[in-house]
Amino acid sequence: MKILIAYYSRTLTNAEVALLIAEDLIAKGHSVDFEKIEPVKEENRWLLLKRTWMNWPPLFIGLFSNKYRRYFYDNFKHHEMDIKPLAYPDVSEYDRIIVGSPKWVFMSYPVARYIRQVEGLKGKKVGFFSAWCGPPLKNFEVEAIFKPACHRLERRGAKVVSLLGLSSGFHEYHIYSIFNFFSYLRFGHFIDFFTTHSEYGKRNRKLFVDLLLDGNVDMMESKGWRRSYEGYGLPIFADGTSLSTLRPLRRWYSKRILKTDPE
Ligand SMILES: Cc1cc2nc3c(=O)[nH]c(=O)nc-3n(C[C@H](O)[C@H](O)[C@H](O)COP(=O)(O)O)c2cc1C
Repeated sequence: MKILIAYYSRTLTNAEVALLIAEDLIAKGHSVDFEKIEPVKEENRWLLLKRTWMNWPPLFIGLFSNKYRRYFYDNFKHHEMDIKPLAYPDVSEYDRIIVGSPKWVFMSYPVARYIRQVEGLKGKKVGFFSAWCGPPLKNFEVEAIFKPACHRLERRGAKVVSLLGLSSGFHEYHIYSIFNFFSYLRFGHFIDFFTTHSEYGKRNRKLFVDLLLDGNVDMMESKGWRRSYEGYGLPIFADGTSLSTLRPLRRWYSKRILKTDPE
């Protein structure tokens, strides 16, 4: 198959994932081209953060209400950023397209513009990947990037058949330790467990490539989401809420403080 990997990477962690996916695809005999998405002007990191602030309160409320979260993502208006002219402005000749973006609370702004701008997405089977700093927390991390990305790709006529979310373990704002704490609280593992080169990373990259080549799963159907969560090796995701993050804490409190059996 002829496959295009279009990615943006500001601090190169997503560029590395793009290369690893390309290696896997080439090893299976497919041909790969790269589209390196570049903003016309790289902005200061604090300015970048400021551009999303109006979406933080809804993101926070959405952690506690599935209904509100659905409404929020269905009506979400993504911030975009001007990008340089594309090497492949029309992707119709490709059998599969892969789009990669860092997580900037939601999708990164250059990639949001890319999906709006690129021609030939109609009817294409697409895979979307992202490496972000934290662990795969369902609402705050996984959904906050994949939902806007999938909606936008679908609106352009593409079918999202594969998703990959990994931890880069790097954050420009130096809040890695906060994510590491939540990672242990929620999963009993530190972020290292979910990074690109971990067993988890390798397993999910393989699953991503297999689902992409297969092309038969629609990630926007609940079964698709469920399957992708299972792909993270954490089936509990499918029906876990953000409150389940507190479950290990409650268990620890009952056992150690109340001295009762939590189960
Ligand atoms: C504006 C901005 C917002 C970010 N928001 C998140 C976030 O919500 N969750 C997270 O885990 N990482 C977040 N990050 C960290 C990046 O996703 C992480 O560093 C990623 O590895 C960067 O990818 P890159 O090296 O390909 O540019 C954010 C980074 C920036 C610049």
